[in-house]
Amino acid sequence: MLGKGKMRLPAKVKLVEVGPRDGLQNEPETVSTAVKIELIDRLAGSGLRSIEVGSFVSPKWVPQMADTADVMAGLAVRDGVRYGVLVPNMQGLKAARSAGAKEIAVFAAASETFSRNNVNCSIAESLGRFRPVCEAAQAEGIAVRGYVSCVLGCPYEGEIEPQAAAWVAKELMEMGCDEISLGDTIGRGTPARAQGLIDQVSKTVPVEKLAAHFHDTYGQALANILAVLEKGVAVIDSAVAGLGGCPYAKGATGNVASEDVLYMLNGLDIETGVDLESLAAAGQFVCSQLGRPTASKVARALSAKANR
Ligand code: HMG
Ligand code: MG
Repeated sequence: MLGKGKMRLPAKVKLVEVGPRDGLQNEPETVSTAVKIELIDRLAGSGLRSIEVGSFVSPKWVPQMADTADVMAGLAVRDGVRYGVLVPNMQGLKAARSAGAKEIAVFAAASETFSRNNVNCSIAESLGRFRPVCEAAQAEGIAVRGYVSCVLGCPYEGEIEPQAAAWVAKELMEMGCDEISLGDTIGRGTPARAQGLIDQVSKTVPVEKLAAHFHDTYGQALANILAVLEKGVAVIDSAVAGLGGCPYAKGATGNVASEDVLYMLNGLDIETGVDLESLAAAGQFVCSQLGRPTASKVARALSAKANR
């Protein structure tokens, strides 16, 4: 840990890029497989070492991710780069395994109603589906990340108690997830609540295993990230150009933009290994394909400066 005046922050942060999955799953325009592959390659080229590239879920539920096997088949093997995929059940694991996945993520929620809307079953049932997935993946040397969605609020139930998120996080860790990502799926969190959540969850899951996943619906994402960095969280999820939202969380805007997170971390002298200009260029590339402007303030400022 590094002292920064009164702040104590990690010296290094691992950025987990979720744009190609969490971002593109919720964009109204479906981009082609070739564009996804080029985006992922550009992201890896910027120095990102953990990139979520798709989902092996029902194509009826999330059609934007239906080509995940083709995306994986087209990815360049790059030393040290981990390509993750979402898996909701054994059927998904089978498909992920056939596609050569070395890292998967199971995804539960801290809200019952969100769980039913997202994976068509209760929280307990979803955990029951993940147990054999984790067991089989571990036996095959496939790493498993666990998500807990709606940790600071649910689109259906409103406020969520930190104890509910902490319980699900502990269950996921006990079944073998090596990293637990706490998702503020609808971006309702504020810094004090984000810190309270980490205090609660870290009673049972070591903070070293935690990742923070913020959406920027209320413009709080960077403040929340700084707040959880102060609590020792050193893995941050983000999406290039602030892509996405969540198909089962109406009104949720995109994930926090990777460019904005990186700019803040650079300003704090926190090491990430990622190059801001190449990351912003990857964001520009995908936005030009989607025909919409970037949601990253930093990317907009950089491009305005370049055009001056
Ligand atoms: P279900 O309908 O209850 O499943 O869906 P089922 O077992 O009854 O199967 C029904 C049909 O789905 C069958 O096909 C299965 O073959 C098929 P049919 O006979 O009707 O043709 N099926 C599958 N197909 C492909 N891959 C599979 C698979 N499993 C079953 N793995 C299910 C249950 C979980 C499959 C469904 O609800 C689903 O796919 N949900 C998608 C959820 C999703 O991807 N949500 C977005 C990601 S979560 C998120 O964004 C939040 C997060 O980012 C954190 C944050 O942002 O905070 C993680
Ligand atoms: Mg998200």
